[in-house]
Amino acid sequence: MTYKIDGKEVSSYIKECLKKEVQKLDIKPCLAVVLVGSNPASISYVSSKKKTCEELGFSHRDIDLDETVSQDDLISVIEDLNRDDNVDGILVQLPLPRHIDSDMIIKKILPEKDVDGFTPINMGRLVLGQECFIPCTPKGILALLDYYKIDTDGKKVVVVGRSNIVGKPIANLLMQKDRNATVTVCNTHTKDLKKECLEADILIAACGQREAIKGDMVKDGAVVIDVGINRVDDPSRERGWRLVGDCDYNALKDKVTAITPVPGGVGPMTIAMLMENTLIAFKRRRGL
Ligand code: GUN
Repeated sequence: MTYKIDGKEVSSYIKECLKKEVQKLDIKPCLAVVLVGSNPASISYVSSKKKTCEELGFSHRDIDLDETVSQDDLISVIEDLNRDDNVDGILVQLPLPRHIDSDMIIKKILPEKDVDGFTPINMGRLVLGQECFIPCTPKGILALLDYYKIDTDGKKVVVVGRSNIVGKPIANLLMQKDRNATVTVCNTHTKDLKKECLEADILIAACGQREAIKGDMVKDGAVVIDVGINRVDDPSRERGWRLVGDCDYNALKDKVTAITPVPGGVGPMTIAMLMENTLIAFKRRRGL
């Protein structure tokens, strides 16, 4: 029997726990949300993050900058937030406009406030197995595995995708001594992707390609974590589109042990983890 890994349920549970913890605090943890320009997807993500702050009793500082902001002015904004004692976490929504060097901007965020876990300092600490901020999507995957008691010790994990945000950090986290998985990371140049995927006890699909993982690419009884969020046209829906993952859910759902749906799997976990990281930043900064 296949079971669904229900990110909505797990994220609701985690958010409820965070809300209760924040209620006990005298000061609200504060997340600064920096949005540059008017990319519709970014606006939608940022508004969900702010709404979740409000639901859980966090405060948020909104910094909305014009598409044409200079790199130097954006750096000044970040440096002000770094210095501001009332700000616990800083999130710069990506992607940034093309005239801005994203790596340069991310590097300016104080590691202690880098709740996305994107700075080189936090990524370095993550690889070394040191205290850090774990990026929200990989952290959400670990939380799902823990909630469903999916053991990774000695298991073969195949990660499809090598992004800085998901593939690289999740591979590193799972290979560490507390998780003990044997990890293979595939990319677009992998010679025989099907052969690699068929080896997986746990398959993590994070390649950003709709339904790239087909029914015959996963072994019976595997666990599948689908990180993909791809919009496809669907005239049967009023809004004209629907979301699909990086896996062919219908082809996999009856042969695997467990699978995350899209939507409702990894997606809802990401914001819950951002809130958790913001609370951790708040506590660490105050020595709590
Ligand atoms: N753009 C897409 N995903 C993310 C994320 O997790 N954090 C930030 N800052 N920007 C994103």
